[in-house]
Amino acid sequence: MAKDSQNKKIVVANWKMSPETIDEAFEILKKVKETAKTLKNTKLVICPPSLYANELKESLGKSKKILFGAQNVFYEEKGAHTGEISIDMIKNLGMGYVIVGHSERRILGEDDNIVSKKINLVLNSKLNAILCIGEKERSEEGDFLLFISEQIKNSLHGVEKKYLKNLIIAYEPIWAIGKTAEDAMDSRGVHQMHLFIKKVLKDLFDEKSSEKVAIIYGGSVELENTEELIENGNINGFLIGHESLNADKFCKILKIVDKS
Ligand code: PGA
Repeated sequence: MAKDSQNKKIVVANWKMSPETIDEAFEILKKVKETAKTLKNTKLVICPPSLYANELKESLGKSKKILFGAQNVFYEEKGAHTGEISIDMIKNLGMGYVIVGHSERRILGEDDNIVSKKINLVLNSKLNAILCIGEKERSEEGDFLLFISEQIKNSLHGVEKKYLKNLIIAYEPIWAIGKTAEDAMDSRGVHQMHLFIKKVLKDLFDEKSSEKVAIIYGGSVELENTEELIENGNINGFLIGHESLNADKFCKILKIVDKS
């Protein structure tokens, strides 16, 4: 199975707007921490609600087995922007990753232009960007491929080649998000999209640079489909939403990914 530029697979936990209390967040982290200690081939990035990030991170002490990420960032570096979170705040908290362009943000009006500003900001700040892409629906004619290639090109507008090693692309078909393993994409489809995204990147940059970009899959990754997707999907890892809040199942997923 393909791995990232540091030869490791990546699992990103996107906690979204959960859990409701920080105590519940500590509970999940406590369990995941034990499994994280055993991981040899997998990088684990947890993206909790930003309000919890500092305390969660502190609770782990110096351990580097769990990395932290933000679920979003504002594209301006400073200024009066009520409710937003700046790149320096994320960096100063020691969070090394930022999810950008998640479909749940795009639906609120975040277009490719805003996404590209954010991606450039994250990469120029020497943090890792997790760019989410994915089509809303598919038609027989395959129009979604054009949509995906445009989304990649527009979202990466202005990105310098030298930063591609810090870029992760999360392919998340919107129709597969937040459902069950049965509704997720199958490993064959994931493999095809992996190849397609690589080709778009190759045309946009060059072969050598595009090889540095890790491509992960998201959308109803659950314990049930993890093994099949990781063994046959030719993917560098996963972006996991709801199942990452179920500590027991998530730990099993991590183990499967780590030994694949
Ligand atoms: P899901 O979410 O795993 O709950 O489908 C994935 C995501 O939206 O990042």
